[in-house]
Amino acid sequence: MTDIRNIVILTGAGISAESGIDTFRDAGGLWEQHNIDDVATPEGFARNPDLVLGFYDMRREALSKAQPNAAHQALARLDAEFSGDLLIVTQNVDDLHERAGAKRVLHMHGELKSALCTACEMRSPWDATLSDRPACPVCQAPSLRPDVVWFGEMPYQMERIYGAIREADLFVSIGTSGAVYPAAGFVRDARDLAVQTLELNLERSDGSHWFHESRQGRAGELVPAWVDEILSA
Ligand code: OAD
Repeated sequence: MTDIRNIVILTGAGISAESGIDTFRDAGGLWEQHNIDDVATPEGFARNPDLVLGFYDMRREALSKAQPNAAHQALARLDAEFSGDLLIVTQNVDDLHERAGAKRVLHMHGELKSALCTACEMRSPWDATLSDRPACPVCQAPSLRPDVVWFGEMPYQMERIYGAIREADLFVSIGTSGAVYPAAGFVRDARDLAVQTLELNLERSDGSHWFHESRQGRAGELVPAWVDEILSA
């Protein structure tokens, strides 16, 4: 791959699996242990806020014990050393890209370490629990929810993402099953624009056949090797 000047990377739960964070759809994943309608929809939150707040408190607690792995570190190195344009679009609500040192990161599904006030709609950095109904730091209402995008809600910064894909010459998807839209459609958007596409995933995904190239293996091995290729090209 030569003359790559503008890269958009999409990451999913698979990139954080080797850090000990549960994926969603693998055997034993979060959606086997929990009902999506109960814990990841606005309707589920309205029905049983305690259950939902507890679920995200549990995930925030798990995140506090996790560390970035070799794949996050490799992308942080790419971010630091690649002189072209780069955008890491992550579906993950963890902060492992940032903790590895990456700066050009966009969280399209929100962040565990952010709270959204349903009263004043302000976002606040959040590291503590939410199930004890703390006051919003901005308006003081006890109305905080996790700042994560639930099914039926619009992912964040879609215009910026589509703009970046339009300018890209390479789109890379890492550790995502290609089951959830709109992220699952980015590869086709990229191909329609004649952008080169590469998938790095443990196994073939629902969308593998859309990619020009698909490599199978652990992110902790595939991603550092690919970053070496890009930085030495
Ligand atoms: P999934 O759990 O659907 O898919 C994870 C993918 O990572 C699978 O294809 C695995 O094969 C792969 N994988 C697992 N371990 C890996 C490893 N060590 N190295 C490389 N790949 C590995 O997770 P996502 O695709 O991220 O959305 O899920 C997308 C969205 O669905 C999530 O953001 C979340 C979920 O519902 C919302 O909650 C809105």
